[in-house]
Amino acid sequence: SKKITIAIDGFSSTGKSTLAKQLAKHLGYVYVDSGAMYRAVTYFAMQNGCIGAEFFDKETLINSLPFIKLHFEFNTDLGFAEMYLNGVNVEKEIRTIEVSSFVSKVAEVSEVRAKLVEQQQSMGKKKGIVMDGRDIGTVVFPEAELKIFMTASPETRARRRYDELQAKGENVTFEAVLKNVEERDHIDTHRDDSPLVKAVGAIEIDNSALTREEQFEEVLSLVSKVS
Ligand code: C5P
Repeated sequence: SKKITIAIDGFSSTGKSTLAKQLAKHLGYVYVDSGAMYRAVTYFAMQNGCIGAEFFDKETLINSLPFIKLHFEFNTDLGFAEMYLNGVNVEKEIRTIEVSSFVSKVAEVSEVRAKLVEQQQSMGKKKGIVMDGRDIGTVVFPEAELKIFMTASPETRARRRYDELQAKGENVTFEAVLKNVEERDHIDTHRDDSPLVKAVGAIEIDNSALTREEQFEEVLSLVSKVS
């Protein structure tokens, strides 16, 4: 079978990354978490005083973009790649509720998107890649052989994110997580540049009702049809 490009888009916490990782492992493909890149830029912005609860200095962030170097490094123990910002592993730092609360604002900035999309496209040149995000099937890889659009109810998604954060020992309430998920969905679907929409040709999967295995089997059969 030939190597293809698999684009997975959808709202936050729909289980995109779980599915994408499973697929990449099974197919021997590279998995790229594009959200991690937006999170790393957001973390940089926080560290450099560009964004906070009451301010967002877009100009400074835009001027700083040439100094933001992102790369992924495969962690053999974990079985997936981790995000590095200017040579430092920031996996833990980028998954906090604080980063989550600012990331959609940063992701609205066209200059940020242009930089990240360019890097994402270069990572996909050789195909054999599974990338998840919000604009992968629409903007990054519009020619992808397989596009998936994942959905699930906001409550299902918030519960999932809440359980993840609890497991990591983050002290947050379910209500705060639900609010964050709903706010991000709103910004992600309403922004001018590359809003989250179902791409032309994308196959929609609502996973509130499916088990992980059922979902995986369904997508594998889609893969076999196009590869
Ligand atoms: O996938 P994750 O939930 O980690 O993404 C965090 C945020 O990054 C999203 O809510 C969205 O604002 C932004 N994002 C994006 N385009 C992508 C991936 C993520 O705008 N391709």
